[in-house]
Amino acid sequence: MNLIKNYHIVTYGCQMNEHDTEVLSGILEQLGYQWTDRLDAADVLLLNTCCVREKAENKVIGHLGELKKLKQQNPDLVIGVCGCMAQQEGIAEKIRRQTPHVDLVFGTHNIHRLPELLALAREGNSTVIEIWEKEKGIVEAMPMKRAGGVKAYVTITYGCNNFCSYCIVPYVRGRERSRDPQAVYEEVKELAEKGFKEVMLLGQNVNSYGKDLANKVDFADLLRSLEDVQGLERIRYMTSHPRDFSDKLVETIKASRKVCEHFHLPIQSGSNAILKKMNRGYTREYYLELVQKIKEAVPKATLTTDIIVGFPGETEEDFQDTLDVVTKAEFDTAFTFLYSPRSGTPAAKWEQVPEEAKKERFQRLLELQNRISIAKNRQLLGQVEEVLVEGPSKTNEARLTGRTRGNKVVVLEGDESIIGKTVPVKIIEAQTWSLVGELNPLE
Ligand code: 5AD
Ligand code: SF4
Repeated sequence: MNLIKNYHIVTYGCQMNEHDTEVLSGILEQLGYQWTDRLDAADVLLLNTCCVREKAENKVIGHLGELKKLKQQNPDLVIGVCGCMAQQEGIAEKIRRQTPHVDLVFGTHNIHRLPELLALAREGNSTVIEIWEKEKGIVEAMPMKRAGGVKAYVTITYGCNNFCSYCIVPYVRGRERSRDPQAVYEEVKELAEKGFKEVMLLGQNVNSYGKDLANKVDFADLLRSLEDVQGLERIRYMTSHPRDFSDKLVETIKASRKVCEHFHLPIQSGSNAILKKMNRGYTREYYLELVQKIKEAVPKATLTTDIIVGFPGETEEDFQDTLDVVTKAEFDTAFTFLYSPRSGTPAAKWEQVPEEAKKERFQRLLELQNRISIAKNRQLLGQVEEVLVEGPSKTNEARLTGRTRGNKVVVLEGDESIIGKTVPVKIIEAQTWSLVGELNPLE
């Protein structure tokens, strides 16, 4: 009989969720569980869910139904649902009623309670539910099992105070809380000592970091403090709010050797009327000026964004404004989304744009952005870029993959010994979403 217990976690959604999965894995491994790639070999199976758009929720619901079979094959299997969807009002009860084969549902504020909850779920017959409505303090020193050994996620803020009118995140992740700067510094230092070369600082709105802390420290100060961590080569951050992108921050990034020249600035819409309804706190003019300021300060800057198409009340004219900003800002990449009404958010109650119009606009935006993306990538042909090699390419295992400082994916041929190293790479092929390079023969 196999005495070792296995676990598997299916992760949906963004980097915050990926990082929560690293914490959940750390807790489970401390309890003696081992990761398995096979769902049917798991003794504990968790779905770490997302609810930012309806599509993400539907995927989870579909998956939950399929898991009934696994439970029938192995009645001792513990199935748990956690993450943002689990935190949403009414969802846990719905899961208990509709999918009774689920043993455990817990919220985003209850992750550290997993050992106790697992024990309760093992004992009882009915679904164990624990969802704290409100966030409590930050739990430090959580175990983490980090994926890979080159780059690591480090949370700097939890939650969000912005309440953009379309967004469910503030309701499921709670109010904004900043981690103590010393705790962040220590974690990054430890990662660098372990050989990690890059950190990605995580938060819903990283540039409002520190507003809730007693000692006066902001995001730019935090970046500066990390600059002298020995062995650390690259610092990235996700996500920043254009409204809070201060001059001090631009100057700090300009002066830094380690903070990468990649700016992810979600614009969401190019229409002032829609931006106002979205509660974003800036105009298209402000945004374009910010882009200009960044490009002047950091000439190698790459720029990416998020855009929502078909927000309630969006007219063809509003949409034309979005296309216009996209043309002017020349984003390297834009993550484009069809607006999805989220119950509990203000915009869900407003008059919706017909599905057909949304889809047709989405297609036009995609075509425009793809043309810009490929043109931007072609500008890199023949150039030598610094690439931090991360590991084997997912699409072609014989090749390696890494990223430029501007966050572009580069696929290249090379020996595994360069994994974890920053190497000069000549760009020889440009595609819409990635580049192909070769190790610079001169080096
Ligand atoms: N519908 C569509 N897209 C959304 N986003 C957030 N909420 C919604 C929604 N209700 C997008 C935003 C955000 C990204 C992570 O997801 O563009 O920046
Ligand atoms: Fe959502 Fe706006 Fe907060 Fe981003 S800043 S998580 S879009 S409410």
